[in-house]
Amino acid sequence: MYKIFDTQDEVSRYTAERLAARIEAKPDAVLGLATGGTMEPVYARLVERLQQGPVDASRLTTFNLDEYVGLAPTHTQSYRHFMGQHLFDRLGLPGEKVHLPDGMAEDRDAACRAYSESIRALGGLDLQLLGIGTNGHIGFNEPHTRFSRRTHVTPLSAQTRRDNGRFFRDPSEVPTHAMTLGIRDILEAREIVLVATGAKKARIMAELYHSDPDEALPASALKQHPNVTIVLDREAAALLPG
Ligand code: F6R
Repeated sequence: MYKIFDTQDEVSRYTAERLAARIEAKPDAVLGLATGGTMEPVYARLVERLQQGPVDASRLTTFNLDEYVGLAPTHTQSYRHFMGQHLFDRLGLPGEKVHLPDGMAEDRDAACRAYSESIRALGGLDLQLLGIGTNGHIGFNEPHTRFSRRTHVTPLSAQTRRDNGRFFRDPSEVPTHAMTLGIRDILEAREIVLVATGAKKARIMAELYHSDPDEALPASALKQHPNVTIVLDREAAALLPG
């Protein structure tokens, strides 16, 4: 299902409302979360929404999609830091209820296995929030990642490192690898909300619209899922058929 709004602000408000509704219906929900520029206004609206009450977020459990390999949680560009700044600290979520892949783990394979297993042990994700890369990645599942993969370490594509260079002092500082939830884990979520805003997402959203499930376009895996909402602003929807 597509939901198309005029502005990024309306997209963010709608998405925040969807998250708040899920938390209201199930206060101990397990949420899959994303980072990135698209999510900053979403989390700002969500914090506002939850601070108005009466929805209680204190019993939530969250699992983020991904983390850079080799960035300490205190690094200002780590996704742990991003989440603290934009959501966790502002909601006062307890540290033991929020999870990100451990990009500093010595035994990365064991850390990847444990991450997917801990989601399943809690009964799976009630809702997975996703952004999309300009190359169609979801999480950091880059083009040609097998849809059957669970959490794994992946090299970042040149495109993704270029796109994310804007967050770093110097683009060469963008890590070369990340640890990401796999597409198989993502597809096990009961509900998925993918958000894309801005003109730079228009081309990939049109490609996704026309694509069958195809590992060359990771987000096309979502076509195999029965409960996906794609939330766009006019700019990101500009190349969809009218
Ligand atoms: C981030 C993530 C990525 C981003 C995507 C879009 O946790 O999983 O897939 O959602 O790279 O990033 P922005 O929103 O910065 O365009």
